[in-house]
Amino acid sequence: MSRFPSSQSTSAMVEEPTKVVSAGGGDREGEDEQVVNPWEVTAKDGGKIDYDKLIEKFGCQRLDESFVRRVERLTGRPAHVFLRRGVFFAHRDFNEILDVYERGEKFFLYTGRGPSSEALHLGHLVPFMFTKYLQDAFKVPLVIQLTDDEKCMWKNLTVEESKRLACENVKDIIACGFDITRTFIFSDFSYVGGWASQVVGIFGFTNEDHIGKISFPPVQAVPSFPSSFPHLFSGKDNLRCLIPCAIDQDPYFRMTRDVAPRIGYQKPALIESSFFPALQGETGKMSASDPNSAIYVTDSSKDIKNKVNRYAFSGGQDSIENHRKYGANLEVDIPVKYLGFFLEDDAELDHIKKEYGAGRMLTGEIKKRLVEVLSELVERHRKARALVTDEVVDAFMAVRPLPLMFS
Ligand code: TYM
Ligand code: TRP
Repeated sequence: MSRFPSSQSTSAMVEEPTKVVSAGGGDREGEDEQVVNPWEVTAKDGGKIDYDKLIEKFGCQRLDESFVRRVERLTGRPAHVFLRRGVFFAHRDFNEILDVYERGEKFFLYTGRGPSSEALHLGHLVPFMFTKYLQDAFKVPLVIQLTDDEKCMWKNLTVEESKRLACENVKDIIACGFDITRTFIFSDFSYVGGWASQVVGIFGFTNEDHIGKISFPPVQAVPSFPSSFPHLFSGKDNLRCLIPCAIDQDPYFRMTRDVAPRIGYQKPALIESSFFPALQGETGKMSASDPNSAIYVTDSSKDIKNKVNRYAFSGGQDSIENHRKYGANLEVDIPVKYLGFFLEDDAELDHIKKEYGAGRMLTGEIKKRLVEVLSELVERHRKARALVTDEVVDAFMAVRPLPLMFS
């Protein structure tokens, strides 16, 4: 842990671990409440996730239209689809990051992945694709944390298995197109100094034990501080940090922001997305723990076709006659929702919504288009990943200075 802020910061952060968890919006005071935290995402009574309520409950800010225009003005390029269409819908101090940038100063990006499955699913691509866009648009350095220690504790994986999954996942992450001259990728087991594996080894903890879980939040918190990366940000203790992630990760960083000023650090800023929903509907997020809910970047076109046709919840009516008469319910239709994430052509998306909503297009046509769009995306990813050799991985993960990271 020596590379990270003083041990004092660590103990300060674990002072109230239970509060961190219950402050996650997952409060169980009413059984029917929606639950959103890093471990669980469930809407109230089988309905949809209420994002307005989340903003209010978490105390973050809404990312409105004015941000889209400001980002376009400052970067001189069109905003990413995820920004334009409100996939990223909430933030904390993103305005301050833009102020800093407007003054001609830079910031750094931090995001991460807890390697719990062999391959990423489409939901995981959301923050990574967006982070790649931010890196290109603002020309800033990026650190990516692989919390192999986290999944070891929560998912009952052995240290070896967690490390192996991290190695597989890092290739999918690199395949998103990050710039090696501005990107440092690290895993907790290797970069954080191996303390976690030592603890596991020395004490023989199993996942029944809570000490590891209780001490995990600071591990995800510390990369928000530039001093955690002396080979990158030495002498730049006031460099601001921007964290792109889905809103399930907010509890970790609410805690981080709470602690930061007390230990003399800048609070990290956040830009937060809604969830890419499960195939079954918007009551939950696409999740690696339910394979039928998810489309993986390793799925073939045929797998994608089968999953979409079989599981994707349709807002279409139950007979052609009714469908022609009433049209599709776009509010609950998963194929339309998915196209909103990954079909870039605004005109085509509008056309589909209009025609399908009026009953002139049928579910089958929408699903067919979705299968094309997703197959193309996954195929592009597969090609990019095939180029990521072990040497490329080592190069991204080497502890090294990045002299051109701000230029
Ligand atoms: P993990 O591996 O669960 O998820 C990786 C990233 O993907 C986001 N995400 C989703 N986004 C949209 N739709 C979904 N269905 C969906 N499912 C997951 C997550 O919010 C996350 O951004 N503890 C973290 C790893 C981590 C991290 C970070 C994440 C460490 N440091 C800093 C973000 C920022 C985890 O297990 O993520
Ligand atoms: N919602 C369907 C659609 O838009 C309508 C439908 C239901 C249907 N069952 C069907 C169409 C069987 C053809 C055959 O396509």
